[in-house]
Amino acid sequence: MDADSAPIAIELKPTSRPTSARDRAEVLRAPGFGTYFTDHMVVIEWEQGRGWYDGELRPYGSFTFDPAAAVVHYAQSIFEGYKAYRQPDGSIRTFRPDANGRRMQRSAYRMALPELPVETFVEAGDVLVRTDREWVPEGAGRTLYIRPYMFASETFLGVRPSQHVTFCCIASPAGSYFKDGVKPVSIWVTREFTRAAPGGTGAAKCAGNYAASLVAQREALRHGCEQVVFLDAVERRWVEELGGMNIFFVLADGTLVTPPTSGTILEGITRDSLIQLAKDDGRTVDERPVSLDEWRDGAASGAISEVFACGTAAVLTPIGRLCWDGGELDCAPSGEGPVTRGLREALVGIQTGTAPDTHGWLHQVC
Ligand code: PLP
Ligand code: COI
Repeated sequence: MDADSAPIAIELKPTSRPTSARDRAEVLRAPGFGTYFTDHMVVIEWEQGRGWYDGELRPYGSFTFDPAAAVVHYAQSIFEGYKAYRQPDGSIRTFRPDANGRRMQRSAYRMALPELPVETFVEAGDVLVRTDREWVPEGAGRTLYIRPYMFASETFLGVRPSQHVTFCCIASPAGSYFKDGVKPVSIWVTREFTRAAPGGTGAAKCAGNYAASLVAQREALRHGCEQVVFLDAVERRWVEELGGMNIFFVLADGTLVTPPTSGTILEGITRDSLIQLAKDDGRTVDERPVSLDEWRDGAASGAISEVFACGTAAVLTPIGRLCWDGGELDCAPSGEGPVTRGLREALVGIQTGTAPDTHGWLHQVC
């Protein structure tokens, strides 16, 4: 085992002043998404030649860093997202954290960051959730969202991989990602901006991909849409994904179609899980390119009966209206379709422990 693959110890240094039960209950009543944070965080440092060191759980609080810290200049930064769910027996489990750990290693490789051992990645989340277990909300659609990330923390303005890196894991109680809960969202097709090019960073969960999506997201809002869908960068013809979600099409015969993740699309863990659940249900799943023309023609003719977006934060969200420069059409005239609903219920059933975990996806934390 080399220095970077051995598991790293995480020392516990908890706060002496945790949030009061009353204040926490107030937050958990309406957590929203990404606004409130638990009492602790896990931090692990890395240095070239030394590997990972100084793993600790400590009170949630600000970092101080030098104005010349590499990350704020060159965006060498990646992140992950997964969730902890309260189970009917009172235990708390996370969903496929090892898959997120492996994806973070792939992102790290692409961004010339060090790879954190998957075991340590999972342990960081476990230690945090165990310590802050009272922050895992109860109730339908309520979870604790776990956000591990890693950034270039070296003080240096030269353009090369940072020789000092910081890994951190924070957690945030979450309700619905969309303010209106499960309701079809409207989507704007951006033609001016693309998200990812072949050979680029589209398959990495790196900060810059999200920064680059914001102008298109703003364009969507200006056109009265909630989200933006990106087309491929070469032909501007093939549907790729949303800024923070993968996309699925349901054909009239029940087949599921989703674009292949061949380098420009994030390999979503929700996407992968839904492919498996759909196959378990006897459905055909085609991973193949879908053109914007196929989407427009199929939605108009009925050949495409449902379209939905999916991701950890968004779960499954039906796509209602599709808008582009020059037109719009309704993809979900009668609201959420039965296939979208069935898949969401199957996935959420496993995550919340009301359906059998047939694929061993849940990880018991406490
Ligand atoms: N695509 C992008 C660009 C994302 O940011 C996300 C969210 O993580 C997804 C897809 C869905 O991935 P996952 O299901 O692993 O959350
Ligand atoms: C997630 O679903 O976990 C994401 O990272 C999407 C978004 C919040 C950026």
